[in-house]
Amino acid sequence: MPQPPAVLFVCLGNICRSPLAEAAFRAAAEREGLTVEVDSAGLGRWHLGCPPDSRSQAVARRHGIEIGERRARLVRREDFYRFDHIVGLDQDNLIGLRQLAPADATATISLLLDHVPGRKGQSVRDPYYEDESAFADAWRDACEGADALITALKAEMGRKYEP
Ligand code: 4NP
Repeated sequence: MPQPPAVLFVCLGNICRSPLAEAAFRAAAEREGLTVEVDSAGLGRWHLGCPPDSRSQAVARRHGIEIGERRARLVRREDFYRFDHIVGLDQDNLIGLRQLAPADATATISLLLDHVPGRKGQSVRDPYYEDESAFADAWRDACEGADALITALKAEMGRKYEP
């Protein structure tokens, strides 16, 4: 049996955006009947061990998804071998990930919205110091990126497992 694709979403604090991307991606994979391994992590230490921001929990809950059980963690060296794709939510995350990546990392590092046609190079804006509407925007971006990533993974798997 081939291993399911493993995807790690990464933002700064791992309490606002990457937990939303993780949830949106898991939901999209389920809808498509695709088995995936998915997690999220952060590049900063401030909120380690904390649940997602209450505003992220609220926006996910409005879409029927409970994320309150997860806890923030840092990106670890082993992530660069364990995951097939490590996906940064903004351009700074992408720079941070490239700096952390071991030279022989096997994961492919990308920017979430690069997977969305017409949105190449765009960041999911950091909503932490903003109001509720920024969290609604982050959710919408997370869903757009997650759907596009599922499409890309399906194409990748089709190529890998062609007879
Ligand atoms: P996130 O948002 O990277 O989407 O989880 C942030 C959370 C906390 C901080 C910055 C961004 N902070 O500076 O504490």
